[in-house]
Amino acid sequence: MSNRPHWKSRIGFLLVVIGSAVGLGNIWRFPYVAYKNGGGAFLIPYFIALLVVGIPLLILEQGWGYMQKGSAPVAFARFRKRWEFLGWWVAIFITFGLMFYYSAVLSWCLGYLFFSFDLSWGVDTQAYFFNSFLGVSDSPFNIGEIRWPIFFGIIFIWFVNWAIVSRGIRRGIEVANKIGIPLLFISLIVMLVWSLMLPGAGEGVSAFLTPDLSKILSPSVWNDAFGQIFFTLSLGSGTMIVYASYLPARSRINDNAMITASANSLVEVMAGFAVFSILGYIAFVKGMPLADAVKSGPGLAYVAYPQAINNLPFGREAFGVLFFFTLLLAGITSSVSMIETFISSAIDKFGWSRKKITTVVCLIGVAGGSIFATNAGLLWLDIIDHMVCNVGMITMGFLEAIVVAWLFGGTKFISKLDKFSKFKLGKFWVFCAKIFIPLVLFVMFMADTIKNIQKPYGGYPWSALFVIGFGWLAATLVVARFFSKAKWRTDHLKKKYHDEDEALLVEVDGE
Ligand code: PHE
Repeated sequence: MSNRPHWKSRIGFLLVVIGSAVGLGNIWRFPYVAYKNGGGAFLIPYFIALLVVGIPLLILEQGWGYMQKGSAPVAFARFRKRWEFLGWWVAIFITFGLMFYYSAVLSWCLGYLFFSFDLSWGVDTQAYFFNSFLGVSDSPFNIGEIRWPIFFGIIFIWFVNWAIVSRGIRRGIEVANKIGIPLLFISLIVMLVWSLMLPGAGEGVSAFLTPDLSKILSPSVWNDAFGQIFFTLSLGSGTMIVYASYLPARSRINDNAMITASANSLVEVMAGFAVFSILGYIAFVKGMPLADAVKSGPGLAYVAYPQAINNLPFGREAFGVLFFFTLLLAGITSSVSMIETFISSAIDKFGWSRKKITTVVCLIGVAGGSIFATNAGLLWLDIIDHMVCNVGMITMGFLEAIVVAWLFGGTKFISKLDKFSKFKLGKFWVFCAKIFIPLVLFVMFMADTIKNIQKPYGGYPWSALFVIGFGWLAATLVVARFFSKAKWRTDHLKKKYHDEDEALLVEVDGE
């Protein structure tokens, strides 16, 4: 029997995976990506991407972690030592990449939570966000100086994460999600009902739901839909592998993945309704069509929301607090999962003490996060975000599908999961994982690369994309190699779980 700790209950597991999935991606990223891609038109590619790539990949990751009973590096090393670096690579670019800028966005959120008390953003919310608050510089190389309020926010966010992750999976992560997720649902529902009651909300909602079919033919809409599914379901990040590795035998992987994906999309659609109602309200106040009234982009939550809040007839402060509190809650339950991805890997391989390694990681996190608190922070964020999502996570998803569905064997893999799940996926899953996922991800990757060659991403200079984006991704690869070459200090590798079902079945039958 494995002596790996387990989640306390199935509900506990579902709450932690939903906690990882539901995050800034649902409330901050989804609405502006959907808005940019024609609102309702985006929902069709979004749901198709969810069904043919999102859910099958979620099952693949949760199944792999559960079967191999280890964090990403262990899960791959147990299969074949040469794939171990892949596990380290994701663990590193998530914890020391994605989480660096995620902590900055959470810090903005914290700032705005305080600003809500006296609506300190003033009338021109756009100028406030970009100039007064972020002080965005004109080039990624023009770093300027540290914006202290943002930096202090980053310290606070890492401290909260430290307090949760250092307590361990049961007493820390599971407890935090058991409190955070129900609270998140309640605050989201209150926010949604409130937004739907505003004048003009109907117009906004209909913009969200009416498909503009001409947009569906555009490849970039599909690209964004797949990218969003990856980000929002925490795919290609090793996180789901880690969380599922703490599951007991006989777990219902397929069913759990369906529940996770449904809950995540439910929150996403709810957030979509809330945000579009607000946009409708802004259009109503300004007396112009929605498309002219609001500009899309990552600033949507920080520009459009405060603008709408300014115009509310009553309860302005309360609405602001509610919105930014919801965003913060959703983000923190996701950020702990990012940090755990590395922590769990380090403990598995080196047997380090959880408290110590969490402390070290959080200190590095504060240092690394500080670059995103400078005047060039938003620009760096944009470049690294593009690299993580469009290169890192997608490459990882592609390689996972190759390793699990081709090298390990798709039919063998899914038959083990189907055995205990109500949803039997059999051939459909094998087809998606073997053919569809690699194909779609490859096409996406190529399309994005060609687009970037024709026109550098975001209009940044090539040198910036190269030095910051590729440089940093290459650095994570080098460090990953270093970790995978290091000597094992635990006996995790000696226990093989996947070999011809033995251990898994012994464990199962022995129950
Ligand atoms: N799914 C999270 C969100 O929607 C982001 C995330 C990505 C979390 C990767 C963990 C790993 O915000």
